Amino acid sequence: MKLSGFGLGLRPPHYEAILSEPHAIDWLEVITENYLVPGGKPLHYLERIRERFPLVMHGVSLSIGSTDPIDFDYLRTVRGLAARIEPHWISDHLCWTGVEGRNLHDLLPLPYTEEALASVVARVGQVQEALGRQILLENVSSYLSFHADEMSEWEFLREVASRADCHILLDINNIYVSGVNHGFDPVKYLQAVPKSRVRQFHLAGHSDMGGHLIDTHDHPIVEPVWDLYRQALTIFGDVPTMIERDDNIIVDAPPLRAADRLAIYRNAYQVRLIDALHETYPVLHGLLGDEAWVELGHAYVAAHPSVFRSIRWYGRELAEFVAGCYSDAPILSEVALLEWTLSEVFDATDAPSLQRAELSAVEPSAWGSLTFRFHPSLRRLSLCWNTAAVWKAMSADEMPPGPELAAAPIHWLLWRQNLQNYFRSMNALESAALDAALRGGHFAQICEGLSALLPQEEIPAAAASLLGAWADSGIIIGLGSSDAVASE
Ligand SMILES: [Fe+2]
Repeated sequence: MKLSGFGLGLRPPHYEAILSEPHAIDWLEVITENYLVPGGKPLHYLERIRERFPLVMHGVSLSIGSTDPIDFDYLRTVRGLAARIEPHWISDHLCWTGVEGRNLHDLLPLPYTEEALASVVARVGQVQEALGRQILLENVSSYLSFHADEMSEWEFLREVASRADCHILLDINNIYVSGVNHGFDPVKYLQAVPKSRVRQFHLAGHSDMGGHLIDTHDHPIVEPVWDLYRQALTIFGDVPTMIERDDNIIVDAPPLRAADRLAIYRNAYQVRLIDALHETYPVLHGLLGDEAWVELGHAYVAAHPSVFRSIRWYGRELAEFVAGCYSDAPILSEVALLEWTLSEVFDATDAPSLQRAELSAVEPSAWGSLTFRFHPSLRRLSLCWNTAAVWKAMSADEMPPGPELAAAPIHWLLWRQNLQNYFRSMNALESAALDAALRGGHFAQICEGLSALLPQEEIPAAAASLLGAWADSGIIIGLGSSDAVASE
């Protein structure tokens, strides 16, 4: 089926509305990196949404212009996602996003030289081979250009497409923005792009701040961009078009000094990473307040340059970092640890849970050697403070209790059931039983481990009751048999 008409970018707040209401949307564009997770809610929704809407995948971290080696592991995961959701095409940007393993999470412009062209063409060939399909490359907006440039941006784009035999995603707004920044005629750009290579258009709006434009993607498309789009339609015909409404990229109008132009990218890098931290750590942000949060964010970004393709993983070391910064308030580090662990639970691999009936159906003679497999989302935490109570209050927009040190560390069980995150505390008995079960211990060994905590005659019933509760929570996904015991 050929894609046509108008698409929208799929964003998490739209999942339910997209599925439950009638829409005049012809297709949806998904950000590839948002779905390169093992499992959980985003992938669940994507599977349902693809049954109703044609999809295209749009990546932000291919970094085709980088000098780093091609990341074939990344391409394998992209290909795996494509096999799962069958997009009409896969696109990314004609830019670079980082070097030497660092990711700047920005779409940085390339020098338009023969050397860069040869490098990009060779890399597109490798990428297309690894993905087993042609890709689309999108023109980015840029706020600086290089003295070394040997050709115009449109010549570079045209040559990449024809030499590497790839397609083009033409962003009409980006042509307009770059035209303003660099003083070229956007119509001349359009006329130079090879018609047969263009598969998709992007349109977006930006707001006029007086003296400079802010390309916020959350405003109506401005009239000059509509004009350019009309011209594009006359040149390229009826190309599938997506209206972008996200992102925050600041565009200053010329004249700007080189330092100011670089500052645009530097500021965007900081803001983007601190925003990503907020996504994962909203409660920590709330506890610290905006000023301290931004200060912490800048310090963390300086100490931990991003090495992740998906910005979702940024912030993995924040709990440890907070422990160093706020040694006088150790509960803050525990809050961060809890929030990070919850984010891991949210994205963990899916697996169907074992039903309690399956547990009940086990023959009594087989119980002794029974072993258990647990849901990939299951996590254990030991917290010394009333961290969970503070997290719950803050998450419910209520006044949190003051920090309180517990008499002994409290053991917590975190897991996901039916796409929902849960956590609860465990007593010493349950904690010991779970530890034994997670180590692969069979039922008899789990019971042995409880002998210091309960009278002997009460242990089997207590252990069986724990297993029933775990099954009800969905954290057991399979049963096995211990060879050691089975062979006895
Ligand atoms: Fe775009």
